[in-house]
Amino acid sequence: MDPIEILRNEHGLIRRFVDLLSVAVTRLEVDQPPPRAFFDDGIEFVRGFSDGFHHKKEELVMFVQLAQKKNGAIDGQIEALKYQHDQGRGFIAAIAGALDGYADGDPNDTAVVRENAAAFASLLKHHIHTEDHIFFPMSQEAMTADELEGLGEKFEKVQEVHGADTFERFHKLVIDLDAMLAEE
Ligand SMILES: [Fe+2]
Ligand SMILES: [Fe+2]
Repeated sequence: MDPIEILRNEHGLIRRFVDLLSVAVTRLEVDQPPPRAFFDDGIEFVRGFSDGFHHKKEELVMFVQLAQKKNGAIDGQIEALKYQHDQGRGFIAAIAGALDGYADGDPNDTAVVRENAAAFASLLKHHIHTEDHIFFPMSQEAMTADELEGLGEKFEKVQEVHGADTFERFHKLVIDLDAMLAEE
């Protein structure tokens, strides 16, 4: 598969998670907090898939290759995307740090979870939109067929480290998260 199509496909799964996170935020706004496990598993999804796998492919492989190819011309754009990845990590760390209090019903920690989940969902929606509609089309145009093939090979190496079933595993996790919200 075209490596950029692989990234787009991963965006599809991340968007499904982000939509569930938005539902969780709405539930918190109407005082129907989702179970703590929803956030524990959500953090597992972000750390294992969207940040630990997808963003790594972008930062360590694709952005590096494109920056070299474009010779500094798109460094600003790449820095902005990397900064957004970092912001996302910060929101997730804040949620993780507030979950014990959240489980105990602490109102301050519950507000931290709600605010950071809302911020993460909004950031990721915007980030994915920018990549899908601006950054990826530009990348596709900038790279030759051989370069795209090279990118695909490097993605395969990352995939080997994480396991061939990475997408399927996390797809299943998203289905479980969906069920967790539906149950309540
Ligand atoms: Fe990204
Ligand atoms: Fe992405």
